Amino acid sequence: MIIDGKVVAQELRNELKLEVQQLKEQHNITPGLTVVLVGDDPASHVYVRNKIKQTTEVGMISKEIRLAQTTTEAELIELLHGLNHDHSVHGILVQLPLPKHINEQVIITSIIPEKDVDGFHAMNSGHLLNGDAGALVPCTPQGCVILAKQHLGEDLSGKHAVIVGRSNIVGKPVSLLFLQENCTVTIAHSRSADLPSLCRQADILVAAVGRPLMIKADWVKSGATVIDVGINHITNEQGKDKLVGDVDFDEVSKVASGITPVPGGVGPMTIACLLKNTLRAAKQNL
Ligand code: GUN
Repeated sequence: MIIDGKVVAQELRNELKLEVQQLKEQHNITPGLTVVLVGDDPASHVYVRNKIKQTTEVGMISKEIRLAQTTTEAELIELLHGLNHDHSVHGILVQLPLPKHINEQVIITSIIPEKDVDGFHAMNSGHLLNGDAGALVPCTPQGCVILAKQHLGEDLSGKHAVIVGRSNIVGKPVSLLFLQENCTVTIAHSRSADLPSLCRQADILVAAVGRPLMIKADWVKSGATVIDVGINHITNEQGKDKLVGDVDFDEVSKVASGITPVPGGVGPMTIACLLKNTLRAAKQNL
């Protein structure tokens, strides 16, 4: 069975739209998200365009600030300080990757945790680690858990979740989220010994490694739920550019009980969860 991220994301956006309307009517607050884009990475431009379109569609205020590739770290920090103090801005997102001369960690830390809708600030990752309800949680990991629940139901207790990948953006936070759901969690990565046999233990397998089609059918237990976070461009036999995940969908879909496609799986959920975080940030001081 295919777990359709487009449908689940649309449902989530419909719910958010109603909540945004209520917030306007009851408190005269319109949630505002500002996206900052530095330089001219083509993929980033596409992502940002989608974010802005969907933000507006749920009734939020969307602002985009574009800066030149040559922008200095100090200039970007100054801009973020201004946004931190702007009461009409509830969420701030600086699109990554940043040009090499700008330290991403310094920039992430320059956004106040209350407006850090990416959930990347150390204060928010600390809250997540501690299991505090108040944390703004990274968007892609939230999307992964929602999609797993869509297939398996609300209660994931006792399931063995194997996460392949240990990045700060996906692997680590998604591991903590599945732990909060009372799963047994294994974090595997490129240096893990016998990755296929670790993956075969998974009831829920999350692939977030960035290696096209790495996970094959014989890595997957029959009936497992597979969540594919990978977004990889490959050239197919016809010489055309093709978007594929970290999972070999054609063969793994025959073994798994549920699997997310690429595109149309985790991707759409990421933006929907960004909007969820923005609404949450806007409601913080009610
Ligand atoms: N670039 C690719 N994915 C993301 C994301 O989730 N947040 C930010 N800020 N940049 C990204």
